[in-house]
Order: sequence, then structure tokens, then C-alpha cells
Amino acid sequence: MEHTQLLHGGDYNPEQWLDRPDILEQDLQLMKKAHVNVVTLGVFSWSLLEPEEGVYHLDWLADIIHRLYQHGIHTILATPSAARPAWMAKKYPEVRRVRPDRVRELYRRRQNYCYSSPLFREKVRAVDEQLARRFGQDPAVILWHISNEMGGDCHCPLCQAEFRRWLQHRYGSLEALNKAWNSRFWSHDFSDWEEIESPAPQGEDCLQGLTLDWKRFVSDRHIDFFRFERDVIRAIVPQAKFTANLMYRFHDIDYHDLARELDVVSWDNYPTWHKATETVEQTALDTAMMHDLFYSLKGKPFLMMESSPSFTNWQPVSKQKRPGVAMLSALQAVAHGSDSVCYFQWRASRGGEEKFHGAVIGHDGREDARPFRETAQVGAALEQLAPATGTSRPRQAAIVHDWPNMWALEGSAGPRNAGLGYWKELACHYNALARAGITVDFVGQDSSLEGYGLVVVPMLYLLREEFAQKLCDFARQGGTVVVSEWTGVVDESDLCWLGDTPHGLTRLLGLRRTEIDGMYDGEFRRCLPVEGAVPALPATRAGVLCEVAALEESDPAQVLLTYTEDYFAGCPAVAVHRFGQGRAYYLASRFEPKFYDALYASLTREAGLQPASPWPLPKGVLATRRDGLLFLQNCNDSPVSVSGVELPGYGTAVWADRDGSLQRLL
Ligand code: GAL
Repeated sequence: MEHTQLLHGGDYNPEQWLDRPDILEQDLQLMKKAHVNVVTLGVFSWSLLEPEEGVYHLDWLADIIHRLYQHGIHTILATPSAARPAWMAKKYPEVRRVRPDRVRELYRRRQNYCYSSPLFREKVRAVDEQLARRFGQDPAVILWHISNEMGGDCHCPLCQAEFRRWLQHRYGSLEALNKAWNSRFWSHDFSDWEEIESPAPQGEDCLQGLTLDWKRFVSDRHIDFFRFERDVIRAIVPQAKFTANLMYRFHDIDYHDLARELDVVSWDNYPTWHKATETVEQTALDTAMMHDLFYSLKGKPFLMMESSPSFTNWQPVSKQKRPGVAMLSALQAVAHGSDSVCYFQWRASRGGEEKFHGAVIGHDGREDARPFRETAQVGAALEQLAPATGTSRPRQAAIVHDWPNMWALEGSAGPRNAGLGYWKELACHYNALARAGITVDFVGQDSSLEGYGLVVVPMLYLLREEFAQKLCDFARQGGTVVVSEWTGVVDESDLCWLGDTPHGLTRLLGLRRTEIDGMYDGEFRRCLPVEGAVPALPATRAGVLCEVAALEESDPAQVLLTYTEDYFAGCPAVAVHRFGQGRAYYLASRFEPKFYDALYASLTREAGLQPASPWPLPKGVLATRRDGLLFLQNCNDSPVSVSGVELPGYGTAVWADRDGSLQRLL
């Protein structure tokens, strides 16, 4: 997929309007006016593509693809596997998923196929081959979109058998499996593979090694299904490029693994703007964290495959984006590395689940409606930003976000079973770095740390030996490492590391954890800076989880902040330790936002990381860099001035680096 312009468009579901040629004609005219240059077709089209088993109708799709192409609009073509036709679900029950309680679903909704069913795979193969033969060489089709938002799990007998095969491959013997799961406890030793079943509400739900492996297995199944569909098409169209649309804070699939199979990462971005509890800047930071994650998965530009031009209809309260926020959020995606701004959906459905979901064209069909006007403005801005297309981002800081760790951390009983707040922990670090204008990537334990100046390790409860070693090497060679509470506790089987913890990091940190205490919501321990400590950090409060640490005797850390209350008084809350050419910071608890702002202001300076903006920024203004470009975004609803430039409320300004000086691009 080669493009020299940012893509603008989105999900187009014209199969709902085939009896209204006037509407299809108006779509085309309005797409031109909105500067649309791409649409995604076919996401849920199976019942029209194959209305009867083995009978395929592709002409309607070909007509639409070609009419759009004549007007300069390309197609991202989706395979229809996410929603199968009713005839299939009725005739072949095995394609329907079985729930954790072992009840097979009736025909319903979407994204609920059994990914193990050979029959389902054959049906998918047949329809995908039809699409590949018909459109594989078509210049209108620039990218293949496999299925839609893959996720969930199936507990049918076919999946149980696959799970046992997967376990046999992973462990080789039941002895090894029993050891990894510590099954001897409560007499859960398995003596036959057939005794093993997936977790269930009325069945096994406390063997944490089993639960963790089930999550790994389900993730692998989705990836296997993706590979299956991709390879069906690739066999016919060797040059085809592939994406899958990923999701916000998604749990079910290890996206680091999935990304290795994709040519381009894409994701669906639906923040709840204007929440009563959050400023626009906070929502923007939460969204930015996802953009940065999706950029990092391949270390290259991604696509924002879906977003709403106005509002969604599946959040508790559907709030319209205020005037200007559609532009702010569209350009934010580009600022963080997206090569597209795409929407769901082009024209609002008349009926069904999503009839009140925001769309570029509403039921009134009017081009003077706000969503259309704002979409057209975004389209025009994207044309001005064409130089951003394909550009990469600087490597500065990395935050470790690892799926098996998240699964194990959240699946484990204690020390806090409610409100552990893994994503909140990530956000504490991310928000402070992003506000300081530092480019942040998210890495897994298999990623390379090369090129980063700072690596943050928040709640890396499941820490693999090799990664602990990698962190030590990184610091030894001059990098800065920040390690938070509840890190280095278990191995990859969720077995507690024996001996001192954080496992593998005690020499790096110059201390060891001796206790951890769960805190009630609203319960805090005060922490004060040690006099004369460098860097000087502000007093703060510790909550959620509080660790007690003991300094290593031979080469101890330098304590920066201590707890002042209770039997914790005098224990290190924050410490720093020189290690080789670099240094490591230890945070014993979760602190207040202002603490992270001060910490990262000081240590990014110390690590020599350049903030994106050469100018100091007013509150609520965020700065980001893509190579050769600087983006400033005003998340306030009122104007601000930055270095003589007036940024309107929710406004964005973009500069290009030209011959050493910044020239305004937008
Ligand atoms: C996405 C999905 C779309 C549409 C959209 C609504 O998750 O892929 O098909 O349902 O949400 O926000």
C-alpha cells in the first residue's frame, strides 16, 4: 500500500441503500466535497455476498468499488468473516460460539464465530477466495482488512481439544504442566490431558496458571485465524497488504504478537469526550496513549480506521463532540503517527443497533449539518498535512506494556483484588511524559530497547529473567530505568520468584522489597523529600499499593523520598541508584500526578531527552513530533498564545523543520 497523502474516509455500508440509487449518487458527490479519498467496504457484507450457500453475488460490490475509483476514491476491502449469514448459523451449529458456561449461543450479533471450527474456516475460505479472485488485481483496492475487531473466546469441544494440543506443545508432559501451574496445591494434579478444561464459572476458576494459559491460547487462536484468512488471500494475491482493526486498552489478544503478522496496524478510536469527570486535555492524553501504543507495535505509522465524526451510541451517555473537537481529535491522530482519519460510518443506518451512532451524513442527508461540515474541514486540513504521510517519530522514552503481564496481574488474587488500576498506573507515567513533550513508545518484553534514553517499568508483576537482564544492560550502558511498585514478582507461569524481589533488579535498584500493603480507596501515606537529596522532588501521598523496601548493604540506593506515617515511617518511597553508566529509579507506590510531573521533568532533562516544543507551553497545550514536523494542540476551549502564535480554542498548529528553522504548515 503506497500513498503520498493522508487517507480520509471510513466505513461505507452501501449495501443498506442498494434500492436507493439517488442516495448512492449523493454519497459520491458528498465524498468529493468532504475530501474523501478512501472507504472501507465489505466489513459486514456476507449475507449479500453469499445469500445462499455457495451462491456468490459480487457485482454490486464491483460496481461501487469502480464508481468510487473513477472519482479518485480507493477501497480498503474487508473480509466478511466477522458476521456470518443466518443460514449458516442455522445449518451448521458448530460455527456458533460456546460461552464459558458451556451454552452454545443462538444466532446473534457479530464477532462471535468459533475460530477453531474447520467448517467455519472452509466457508470463510470460499468467500475470501471469491473476493481475492475478483478484486486481488484491482488497482482500486489498496489494503485488505481482515474481519473486524477480533476478540472474545469460544469454549466448544473443538476449542477444548485445540487447547489441550496447545498445552501439550507448550509443556511436553503433564509433569511439566503440573509444575508450572503448581497444581499440587488443593490436589489439582492432572493425570490425563483429557481432564483439562477451559476456565468456567461452574468449573475451574482458581488455577491461575491455567487461566493465564487460556488467555495465551485464545490470543494465539485469534492470531491463527487472522493468519488463515490472510494466507487464503495471499495465495491468490501475493502482493496484497493486510491490516486488522485493533481496539482501546484491549485485553483478549497480545497485540505485540498480532502486529508481527500485519503489514499495517490500524485501530478504532472512540473516546468519550466531555465526561463530567475529565478535562478535554485528560481525554486527549488517554487517547494519545493509545495512538502511541499502536504506533509502537510496528514502530511505524498506523491507520486510524474508525472514529466518530460526532458521537457514539454505545457509551453510557452519548455526548456530541463540541465544535472544534472533531478537528482536534482527527489531527491528534496524525500528530501521533496516524496516516489516516477514518470514520464509522459514512451514512447513518435507518434501523438496527447503530441507527443513532454518529455518521458523516445523518438521516436528514444534509451537507450543512455540523458533522459533514466539520468532516469536510478535516479533509481539507489533511490535504495541507500531506508532508506528514509516512513520517516516523523520534525514539525517546519507552513504557513497558506487556499482555501476559496484564493478564497475570489482573488474574492474580491479592494484594488488591479491586481497583488495582493497571492502566491508571501506566497513565501516571505516560501523562507526565506526554505533557513534557516527550515521545513515548510502548514496548513488550521481547522488544529491543535500543535508541531509547528512558525505559519505564510500571507494575511489571510478571517479569521474565531475560527482560530483567535487558533492563540491567540498558542501564549499565547509560540508560535511565524507572521501576514502579509490584514489579518482578512472578515468572512467566505466574509462579512466584523465590528469593529477593523485584526479581533480577535488586542490584540495579540497590534495594529489595520486603513487604507490600494493599490500601483502601481514599487511604494514603504521606511521603516527604529527604533533605538535600538530588533530584529534589515534591512531597506527595502514596496510595493503592505501598511497598516497604530495604536498601542493599554493599551498594545501596540513595533515598529521595521517605514515608512519614505509621510503621512505614522512614522507609524509602522513592530512591535512585547509579548503575554502570546509567541509573535506576524505584517508586514504592502510586503517587499524585504532580509528583510524576516533577519526576519526569527532572529525569528527562538528566537523560538528555529534548521536549517536542522549543517554547514553554500554556496549561492544556500538548506538543508532539513526527520527523520534520511539530504539532501543537490546544485542548482548552479558549484561545492561548504560544511564542506569538494565537491558537484558538481546540486549535492545532503545525510547523515543518526547514533548513534549521520552523515554518508554519497549518
Ligand atoms: C466499532 C465497530 C464498528 C461500529 C463502531 C461503532 O467497534 O468496528 O462496526 O460498531 O464500533 O462505534
